[in-house]
Amino acid sequence: MIACIFFQDRLSFKSVDISIKKGILFEQFCDILIVYVFQGVDRFDDFISKILKEEKFKAKLCQTVLIRTGGHLPAKRVLVVGLGKKEEFDFQSLRRATASAYFSAKSIEPKTIVSEFFNTSDFESKEIAQAVTESIRLADYSFTKYKKENGNGKRKPQSFEFVTDDGRIIKKVQSGISLGELTARATIFARDLINTPTQDMSPRHLVEFAKSIAKGKSTIRVRVFDEEKLEKMGAGGILGIAKGSDDPPFFVHMIYHPKIKAKKKIAIVGKGVTFDSGGLSLKPAASMSTMKIDMAGAADVLGLFSVINEIAPAVEVHGIFAAVENMPSGRAVRPGDILKAMNGKTMEILNTDAEGRVILADSLVYATKQKPDMIVDLATLTGACMVALGEEITGLLSNDSKLANLILTAAAKVSEKMWELPLEKNYKQFTKSDVADLKNIGGKYGDVISAGLFLEEFVNKTPWAHLDIAGPSFAERDFDEYTKKGATGHGVRTLIEFLRGF
Ligand code: BES
Ligand code: MN
Ligand code: ZN
Repeated sequence: MIACIFFQDRLSFKSVDISIKKGILFEQFCDILIVYVFQGVDRFDDFISKILKEEKFKAKLCQTVLIRTGGHLPAKRVLVVGLGKKEEFDFQSLRRATASAYFSAKSIEPKTIVSEFFNTSDFESKEIAQAVTESIRLADYSFTKYKKENGNGKRKPQSFEFVTDDGRIIKKVQSGISLGELTARATIFARDLINTPTQDMSPRHLVEFAKSIAKGKSTIRVRVFDEEKLEKMGAGGILGIAKGSDDPPFFVHMIYHPKIKAKKKIAIVGKGVTFDSGGLSLKPAASMSTMKIDMAGAADVLGLFSVINEIAPAVEVHGIFAAVENMPSGRAVRPGDILKAMNGKTMEILNTDAEGRVILADSLVYATKQKPDMIVDLATLTGACMVALGEEITGLLSNDSKLANLILTAAAKVSEKMWELPLEKNYKQFTKSDVADLKNIGGKYGDVISAGLFLEEFVNKTPWAHLDIAGPSFAERDFDEYTKKGATGHGVRTLIEFLRGF
C-alpha cells in the first residue's frame, strides 16, 4: 500500500501544458518566444541581428541568448537557441537545443512561452513533436521527494505553445505531442523508482507498483510469486541470492493483451536487485553508494507497463522481473556454494557480487516457458560494460541479428545510445565450472561478454537481446540537457519505440 500512496502526487502531476497552433512566428504575443537557428544562417531583422552580434552569438548547439524586444515585437522577449552546424544536425541536437531553450526560458518565470515548431523535411512532423515534447518533460524532471524545500520555489509557466505556419501538420504534431507525453511519463516513472532509496523501494514495494499499475485495467494482469512459490518452481538462483537479506524476494509477471489479435508475443525481463551490497563478496564503500539503482531493469519494465495501455502496441507483452536484495549475513550465499536454476542447470557462486546473472538465469527460464517469439532483457549487469563503452552507452548482446537490429534502430530513433558487443563463442570456456555446470564469474577480461554468454544458457535458443544498462541507468554527471545527474530511465523509450514497430 505504501508504494501507491508514495507516488500519487507524481502520477497526477501536471506541469505546463504543451500544445500546437497555427500562426506567424514573429506575430506572437507572449512572455518568451523561442526561435531556433543554425550556424551561419541569418533569419532576423536588424534589431535582433545587432544584439546577437553584440552578445557574440554563434548559434553553437544549445547556445542561448535572451533578448528584450522593448515593443519591437509583440513578444516581450525572444530566446534564440543555436542548433549548431546544419550538416551535423540530428534528433539529439534538436532534443538538446529544445531542453536548453526551455531551461533558460523557465529561469525567468514566464507565464506564456511560444516556441517555433522546428520542422524539416528530413523527419516526420510527428516524430519531431514527440522528440521536443520528451525533451521538455525530461529536462523539467527533478527528484525532490526527500527535500525539505520541495521544488526550487520557481513558478512553472502556464502555457507552452508551438507555432507553425503550416496548418497541414497540426494533427500530426498533436499526436506526436501526446506520444511524447506518454514516453516521458513512462521514463519519469522509472526515474522515480530508481532514485528512491532502498528503504522505500524494497522487493515488496516493486510488487506494489506492479499491482497498482494493473489495477482497474482490463488489458493488464499481474502474477506475483512469493518465496514459497519460488521454492516450488525451483528458482534456486533467486532464492540463493535473496538468502542474505531480511526482505524476502518476489517474482513478478505482468501480462499485457492488446485488444486486437496479437501479432507477436514478446517478453521483457528486468534485473530487480533493490540493493546490491555485493553480498559476502562485499563491495567497497565507493562502489556501493549508488547501488539502490540495481533495480533499473525492473523499473524500466514497470515504466513501460505504466503507459502500455495507452501506447496500445499490437503485441502481447510479458513484463518479468525478480525483486531481490543482495546482502551479506550469516544466512547469505557463500562463495563456493552451488545453486540450481529453474531449468536444472547448476551455478557455482564464486563471487556473490555477480548476483545479477544468477537471478536473471531463473527469470529468463521463466520467460522462455511463456513461449515468446523474442525476449529482451535489461540489466545493470556489469562494471565491465562501463569500462568497455563508458557511462552513456548500453551494451547490446544478442543471439539474433534481426532482433538486435530492431532494438538498435528503435534506440537510435529515440536517441538512446546502444552498441552491439559479440557473444564470442570461444569465451564460453570462462563460464564453465569445475564442480557445477556454470560459474558466475568469467575470466580476467571481458566480463560483459562472459555475463552475456552465461545468460544465453537460459534462453533455450529463443531470439533474445540482452541490454547491459549498468552505465546509462544512472548519470553521475549531467549526460546532456535533458538527462541530468541521477536516474535516467534509459531503456524505457527504446522499449516503447520497439514495441510500437509491430
Ligand atoms: N550491479 C553490479 C554492476 C554495476 C556496476 C551496475 C556499476 C551499475 C554500476 C553487478 O551486480 C556487479 O556487481 N558486477 C560485478 C561482477 C563481478 C564481481 C564479476 C562487477 O561488474 O564488478
Ligand atoms: Mn553485484
Ligand atoms: Zn548487481
